[in-house]
Amino acid sequence: MRDWSLSAEELQTPRLSLRRPNEADIDAIFEIHSDPGTCVHNPSDALARFEEAEELYRRWNDQWERCGYGYWVVRRHGSEQQLGFCGIKPMALHGMQVLNLFYRFATSAWGQGFAGEAASEVTAWVSRRVPDLPLIARVRPANMASQRVAIRAGLTRAEHLDAIGYDGLDWIYAVKLPT
Ligand SMILES: CC(C)(COP(=O)(O)OP(=O)(O)OC[C@H]1O[C@@H](n2cnc3c(N)ncnc32)[C@H](O)[C@@H]1OP(=O)(O)O)[C@@H](O)C(=O)NCCC(=O)NCCS
Repeated sequence: MRDWSLSAEELQTPRLSLRRPNEADIDAIFEIHSDPGTCVHNPSDALARFEEAEELYRRWNDQWERCGYGYWVVRRHGSEQQLGFCGIKPMALHGMQVLNLFYRFATSAWGQGFAGEAASEVTAWVSRRVPDLPLIARVRPANMASQRVAIRAGLTRAEHLDAIGYDGLDWIYAVKLPT
C-alpha cells in the first residue's frame, strides 16, 4: 500500500528511492549531464564544466525552496549510487501554467525500467499533491525511449500543444489538461 505520509522530499517505489538532491549529488549531476549519450536529443542540456553542474544544482535547490518539490535523485533501495534524476518544474506552455516532467538517467542504468518506474511515481505524486496543474512532457520526436517513459507514466500525446523548444520541435505528452 502506498505510504502517502512520506514527505515530498522522499518518494518510494518497489525498487527505487527518490530523494531531494543535496550538494553530494553534484558529482552525479555533472557525470550524467556531461555524458554525450544522455543529451543526444537535448544538446542544450549538456554540461561541459563542473561549475555548470554546481549552478544547475543551485537552480534545482532554489525551486525546492520555492515550491516544496522539484527534481528527485533516483537510487535503488539500499544503494548510494545515483541512477538518474526525475522530477517536475513549473513552466508556461502557450500561456498555460503547467508542470514539466523531466527524466535523465545514467546510460549504465538504461533499459531496466527505472525511468518508467520513477516517472510513474512522480506522476502519481503530482496528481495527488498538485492536482490543479496539468503535467506535460516535452519530447523530441526521435527520442523513442523518452516517449515510452511518458506513456508509461500515464501521459498521452497532445499534438495541439506541440512547441518549438531549445533544441527544435518538441512533441507534447500530457495528463490532466483542462477540458
Ligand atoms: C529516456 C530515458 C530516461 C529512459 O530511461 P530507461 O531507464 O532506459 O527507460 P525504461 O527502461 O524505463 O524504459 C521505458 C520504455 O522505453 C523503452 N525504451 C528504452 N530505450 C528505448 C530505445 N532506445 N528505443 C525505443 N524504446 C526504448 C523501453 O522498452 C520501455 O518501453 P515500455 O514502457 O513499452 O516497456 C533514458 O534513455 C535517458 O536518460 N535518456 C537521455 C535523457 C532524455 O532523453 N530524457 C528525456 C528528455 S525529454
